[in-house]
Amino acid sequence: MDNQALIEKIRELAPWHHDIELNDEVHTGKVFSPTGTLPKQDNDGVTLISPRVQFTNLVKGCYPDSMLEGKSFLDCACNGGAYCFLAREFGANQVVGFDVREHWIKQAKFAQEHRKTAPVDNIRFDVMDLYDTPKQNLPKFDFTYFSGIFYHLPDPITGLKIAADLTKDVIFVSTAGVNVPENPTGMSMSRESTTRVMSGVYEMSWFPNGPECIQALLNWLGFKEVKLVRLVENPNNRIRMSIVAAREEGRLEHAPGELMPEVKITTNRKKS
Ligand SMILES: C[S@@+](CC[C@H](N)C(=O)[O-])C[C@H]1O[C@@H](n2cnc3c(N)ncnc32)[C@H](O)[C@@H]1O
Repeated sequence: MDNQALIEKIRELAPWHHDIELNDEVHTGKVFSPTGTLPKQDNDGVTLISPRVQFTNLVKGCYPDSMLEGKSFLDCACNGGAYCFLAREFGANQVVGFDVREHWIKQAKFAQEHRKTAPVDNIRFDVMDLYDTPKQNLPKFDFTYFSGIFYHLPDPITGLKIAADLTKDVIFVSTAGVNVPENPTGMSMSRESTTRVMSGVYEMSWFPNGPECIQALLNWLGFKEVKLVRLVENPNNRIRMSIVAAREEGRLEHAPGELMPEVKITTNRKKS
């Protein structure tokens, strides 16, 4: 396919959330904006992101010696597949990405077919619901990505447990939340559209009340070391948090972020 045909196909597959480099001239996002950024309202309500810099820093910090060379990588809710492509570029030799929406997996497969700037073999993309992954007999992965999915699930604890149980070494969780300082380990119920391409498919959803909620869950799931990579406060008490966690203590020495002190969960239940 020549560049003009690629551009036409990229337009046909819009809206895109991930800016993915196909060749030196054609990037999926740059078809719509030369800088790879685009106001949400001009992109069917979908934010366009270019994840290279943030993902490179994370991988460098978690795997400082040889990036993802020879590692396996799982992306839950992979969308257009940008993180899978970068993981493969950084040396991962077994990469699996899945998303519940065909819209995104079509983009990921199209990009896989036409990406010329890095290897695209050993990457598998599937249309799949997170809750169906335990039936697939997937192997365990060194590094799991769980970005933008926690707050789209009707039972995020089961969802995170599914991803954690598939993880040998490091898990990255990024999620929207609400700021509830008086109960930061709790969650707040919400409802969302099931038809918007960026949302979940169950209507019922939950926001963590603070990073401590995700930290406590990850500790419970067997991740001994947890770092808060980023916490952003948005209007209307909304927050956005990114957290990285490792099964082994001391493992995240070079990873970005601040170590999170252990959360003390108190109970007001009286002893009988
Ligand atoms: C906010 S986007 C995040 C995309 C991507 N992970 C990222 O961080 O750029 C949410 C994604 O989750 C997917 N999704 C929602 N519910 C899902 C489920 N139950 N199983 C798998 N994917 C799901 C949506 O289709 C959408 O691609």
